Amino acid sequence: MRDRLNKIKTQALEAIESSSCEEDLEDIRVKVLGRKGELTMVLKAIGGLPPEERPEVGQLANRLKQEIEQSIKTRRNALKDLHKRPRVEGLDLTLPGRRRQLGRLHPITQVMGEICYIFERMGFTVVHGPEIELDFYNFEALNIPPDHPARDMQDTFYIDDKVLLRTHTSPIQIRAMERQEPPLRIIAPGKVYRCDSDISHTPMFHQVEGLMVDRDISFAGLKGVLTSFIQQIFDPDTPVRFRPSFFPFTEPSAEVDIQCVMCKGEGCRVCSHTGWLEVLGAGMVHPEVFRHVGYDTEEFTGFAFGLGIERIAMLKFGIDDIRLFYDNDLYFLQQF
Ligand code: PHE
Repeated sequence: MRDRLNKIKTQALEAIESSSCEEDLEDIRVKVLGRKGELTMVLKAIGGLPPEERPEVGQLANRLKQEIEQSIKTRRNALKDLHKRPRVEGLDLTLPGRRRQLGRLHPITQVMGEICYIFERMGFTVVHGPEIELDFYNFEALNIPPDHPARDMQDTFYIDDKVLLRTHTSPIQIRAMERQEPPLRIIAPGKVYRCDSDISHTPMFHQVEGLMVDRDISFAGLKGVLTSFIQQIFDPDTPVRFRPSFFPFTEPSAEVDIQCVMCKGEGCRVCSHTGWLEVLGAGMVHPEVFRHVGYDTEEFTGFAFGLGIERIAMLKFGIDDIRLFYDNDLYFLQQF
């Protein structure tokens, strides 16, 4: 008899605990405590037991009855709470929610924002220009006349004779100077296009252009601004060097290298064993450029610089293939 009671107890309590609605509970109640219920039958059978056993078994059975009634009541209240929220047929409100995936900024957008922010703190204002550009702004006003050999430096996507996809952000310099008299301090981020594709080139990439024009702007100022920028975007103690170079729209011109972030100057595959990485082109604005926008070349001087955002991002994050930025592989993008 005692075993039977124990079995009823375990089964009933388990069923109550895992019930998910009022109907389940009612079924359990009928099955155990109903007129023909398991426990009811035991209670009825007590009369047939030898007299000395009756009190003990009776007590056990009655206590179990109370326990089961109480536990049905508790479960009923718990289920009521659960179902206070609106019920929809076929919907299990007890299931955990589905996690929403958070979107994030593309690594290029992140680095572009960071670059602009550094220059904004130095007093530069962000401006934009068109990606479909006139030959005049992309080349001619930048002292690159038709047939100038420097046009070969950039493989251009032409739309027609006069219209093209800008090959650099430098045309924004011209547009800014046409709009505004000096002093001028602008930064211009954006997409640029060149007919080129391999592990370090994509046909579309991003640049940031900088231009500062005023009285007494010097090459020393350029070095100061760019060194400060590099030490903010990379480590504060990153070694920087300026190398003489050529751009038709700046004179003198320089390219700016940082010590290789991968090998710390030892020489490795990334820096072609030179210990240095080129990150910027820069120089003093060529008087011919000022003449195109009607600035007084006696009164004003200026410096300009341009940098590739992908290149900075690759060095910052240690990425060795530029195409990863544009494969739209979520496993790659989610790391940033
Ligand atoms: N426009 C040049 C390039 O795309 C970079 C540059 C900008 C150089 C401004 C000097 C001054 O390579």
